Amino acid sequence: MDLKVENGCIKEDNGLGWGKSLPVQSVQEIVTNAYQSVPERYIQEIKDRPSSISSESLQASLQIPIIDFSLLAKGDEHETRKLDLACKEWGFFQIRNHGVQVKILQTMKAAMAAFFELPLMEKKKYAMGANDLEGYGQAYVVSEEQKLDWCDLVALKTLPLEQRNLNFWPLNLPGFKEAVEEYSIEVQKVAEEINANLSILMGIERDGLKRYQGELKQLMRMNYYPPCSSPDLVFGVSPHSDGGSLTVLLQDDDVIGLQIKHKGEWIPVKPIPNALVVNISDAIEIMSNGVYKSTEHRAITNEKKARISAAAFAHVDDELEIGPLDSMVDDPHRPPMYKKIKYIDYIRQVLARKMDGKDHTDLVKIQT
Ligand code: OGA
Ligand code: NI
Repeated sequence: MDLKVENGCIKEDNGLGWGKSLPVQSVQEIVTNAYQSVPERYIQEIKDRPSSISSESLQASLQIPIIDFSLLAKGDEHETRKLDLACKEWGFFQIRNHGVQVKILQTMKAAMAAFFELPLMEKKKYAMGANDLEGYGQAYVVSEEQKLDWCDLVALKTLPLEQRNLNFWPLNLPGFKEAVEEYSIEVQKVAEEINANLSILMGIERDGLKRYQGELKQLMRMNYYPPCSSPDLVFGVSPHSDGGSLTVLLQDDDVIGLQIKHKGEWIPVKPIPNALVVNISDAIEIMSNGVYKSTEHRAITNEKKARISAAAFAHVDDELEIGPLDSMVDDPHRPPMYKKIKYIDYIRQVLARKMDGKDHTDLVKIQT
């Protein structure tokens, strides 16, 4: 970590941001250049490779909760209980009737597709800087040796508006900025309503989670998974849980890719046209004292078709401390399971390592 001396005391370099990722080749480029076989760096060790999905897993896929957001927003008790169970048992659910117009979803998808269709040289104008994870590139590359994911991405700080760094936005791509802006604002409203419901379920006031998280920041990670000739050898995204508080994912309506780990099995999340996928992320798992699960997930690739998704990560204010809420601690029945930690310290530690399931949450777990 870069340190500098300011007013006589050592301060962290404010330019550092959340972390960094080593530059690697664009996967889309590998595919465009008619590769013969999947390059070694993308081939997972045999023990890690994505196994084929069993019929039980396909069956379990039908059990992933689907929540009617319009009922939730009306305070419907049955739907609120469903949300509670979904967060406890799955950590993932899909939402329908979320109020984001289909046109906005379609425009967002078209904008992302148009970005990834740009020539490589054009996309590289928005390449990630040396000191941050914002921009076009590949995430979580922390060493020259590690296995790589079959994915290109562009990550943008979308909210609050004044935190946007327009140098990374392809402003000469017609309609891109407007599409991302509109979608990000809509999706934030959805995240806020879910937060309000979770606050009540966790025994705090409706705006409780909002206050504990400070001014909510949204990072939009737009993923492009090129087709892969051997989907059984690679990951689109390696298994991980999300470091933020809540993630809303817009996935492709036709191409299946996302899988979640449930009771030790990998279960596909089948797309429901125009629905959104929501998952509890680490900060809410910690605040809920482990009652709500930040579930491990991964994405696999498709042999014939590219897949695009947008993950909107809600992040806690960097300077705030996260830890189990008093209302979720009940000593001695349910003692605190996580240490308190300043959010920026947590997220930097998470992003400094190669994604590997949920190992990073051990950083804050109180060992019993
Ligand atoms: C992510 C992620 C899954 C997907 O971006 O963190 O888990 O299906 N994406 O794209
Ligand atoms: Ni994720």
